[in-house]
Amino acid sequence: MRKYYLAYEERYRKLHDEGLTWFSDIPSPELLDWVENNNISLEDEICEIGCGEGRDALYLSNKGYKVTAIDVSESAILKCKELARIKGVHIDLKVADALSLSEVTRKYKWVYSIATLHMLVDDNDRYNYLTSLYNLLEPSGNLLLVNLGDGEHERKTDITHAFQLQERNHSASGRKVMIASTTYRGVNWDYHKKELERIGFNIEEAFNTENKEYGKCMTVYLSKKGDDDSKRYLKQGS
Ligand SMILES: C[S@@+](CC[C@H](N)C(=O)[O-])C[C@H]1O[C@@H](n2cnc3c(N)ncnc32)[C@H](O)[C@@H]1O
Repeated sequence: MRKYYLAYEERYRKLHDEGLTWFSDIPSPELLDWVENNNISLEDEICEIGCGEGRDALYLSNKGYKVTAIDVSESAILKCKELARIKGVHIDLKVADALSLSEVTRKYKWVYSIATLHMLVDDNDRYNYLTSLYNLLEPSGNLLLVNLGDGEHERKTDITHAFQLQERNHSASGRKVMIASTTYRGVNWDYHKKELERIGFNIEEAFNTENKEYGKCMTVYLSKKGDDDSKRYLKQGS
């Protein structure tokens, strides 16, 4: 049986065949804030998991960062390669399933993942995904996690409907398109913090954000460092 989180591959393939991309080329504001707040040096390498068509990775590499970007969708990585070539930037791109990232053996000081965890409906899949992110970090590494949801309302879609076509508005062209539904799981802050702490992450900050691409999001700054409780200052949803 096809894995439900491959439904985005179907969506991308259909749109790319029609000469469209799904996402805008505007980088995530949460990513820009994280890079600035952490004063990330151009010497440090950054790894993105679930890069999609690459709007964030393309932005960072254009700014001079060395970026590795991974997605389970081959079509997404092909599109990102094409856009990188057009922009004249280099990104180390890989097709890989983040639920079992055995092919990536190196570690990073900075890892981020935008709008990917919320696609994972199954508890075990979420656990494996978060474990992969944890294992990708250097001992003092940092992770930015941004996912859809308001941190209050819990909802999950039926994974057996992930590949069903649904009519959606394609925002850049204004066209109606029939694309794979994909999946969604919104969790509340209490659940989210517990699943992160169970893996061993330190939650440095956790707060609600809102952006044009996704609307309401839950944003978390995480680290792998020690057990320094003074670093745990939770803003909203604590
Ligand atoms: C909503 S899109 C977000 C794309 C990109 N981060 C952005 O915001 O433009 C979610 C992405 O997660 C990818 N994804 C889902 N499950 C994954 C997995 N197990 N491993 C790697 N990528 C995955 C999908 O293929 C899709 O590109």
